[in-house]
Amino acid sequence: DWTPQSFVEETVEALQEKIGNDKVVLGLSGGVDSSVAAILLHKSIGTNLYCIFVNNGLLRKNEYESVLAQYEGMGLNVKGVDASARFLDALAGLSDPEMKRKAIGRVFIEVFDDEAHQIKDVKWLAQGTIYPDVIESVSATGGPSATIKSHHNVGGLPDFMKLQVVEPLKALFKDEVRRVGASMEMDAAILGRHPFPGPGLAIRILGDITAEKVRILQEVDAVFIDNLKSWNLYDKVWQAGAILLPVNSVGVMGDERTYEKCVALRAVESTDGMTADWVNLPYEFLQKTSNEIINKVKGVNRVVYDISSKPPATIEWE
Ligand code: XMP
Repeated sequence: DWTPQSFVEETVEALQEKIGNDKVVLGLSGGVDSSVAAILLHKSIGTNLYCIFVNNGLLRKNEYESVLAQYEGMGLNVKGVDASARFLDALAGLSDPEMKRKAIGRVFIEVFDDEAHQIKDVKWLAQGTIYPDVIESVSATGGPSATIKSHHNVGGLPDFMKLQVVEPLKALFKDEVRRVGASMEMDAAILGRHPFPGPGLAIRILGDITAEKVRILQEVDAVFIDNLKSWNLYDKVWQAGAILLPVNSVGVMGDERTYEKCVALRAVESTDGMTADWVNLPYEFLQKTSNEIINKVKGVNRVVYDISSKPPATIEWE
């Protein structure tokens, strides 16, 4: 019978056998899969696991700092690389969603390859691939592994792609990954984290991206997510986030008319992201959250709630 405990025992043994004293590099995304894969490998080979956590500047507010600190607290040998400026540069002037994804994928590979080169004699590339990633050609689960997969055929293989690949979660479904993580006493806050797309806020800022737009969206998103948590709604929702619309609208503040940005809030229920229903959030929650966003976030004067399901809408707007 499959239990998380027996899976951990057998996998640790198998990984030790397979890897021996070799060095392994792994890209952490902050998501559930890469985090559980890292802890499993850490348990097996300790500091021979070299983790790299790249800040693409498109993560949630404070996510880079807090997730990096969490990883360090778990004893992982992790290097944080803040490449925000490089990503923003590569995105300058791009509005097309697929062009944005390509630019982010390309820069990620460059940054990761540079870092991987600094690990002497690294032999393996570990990935947090799970079973649904294996059966779908296009991964919907996000993270570095998805980025790498969809870009490895562009312009020759980067060196780290020539490493032997180890994917300890390849046979598991998401709920099993969470149970494996829990059996290794990983923090519930990490295991319960909502899915978040690899390109991050870049595909939630419709149109072109600037540092100022990223800042505005991070603030809005933080209010929304913090409120979901404090209302005990976060765990009832499969995924949630805010979208910065390329629209200004007229508002009024005191005696003055404003002409500012509009944001959409999105929260969905789903099991695998393939279909999704919008969540019937309480009116009072929406009311408080909308007021708080408009009062706190300079540059935003209007909030709307997305009541579209997938299909025919998608979860993301781009
Ligand atoms: P859609 O918008 O297609 O999203 O309904 C389904 C799930 O996939 C995530 N998503 C992505 N994840 N890179 C990723 O790593 C992407 O380019 C990407 N686009 C969408 C989305 O957040 C949702 O969980």
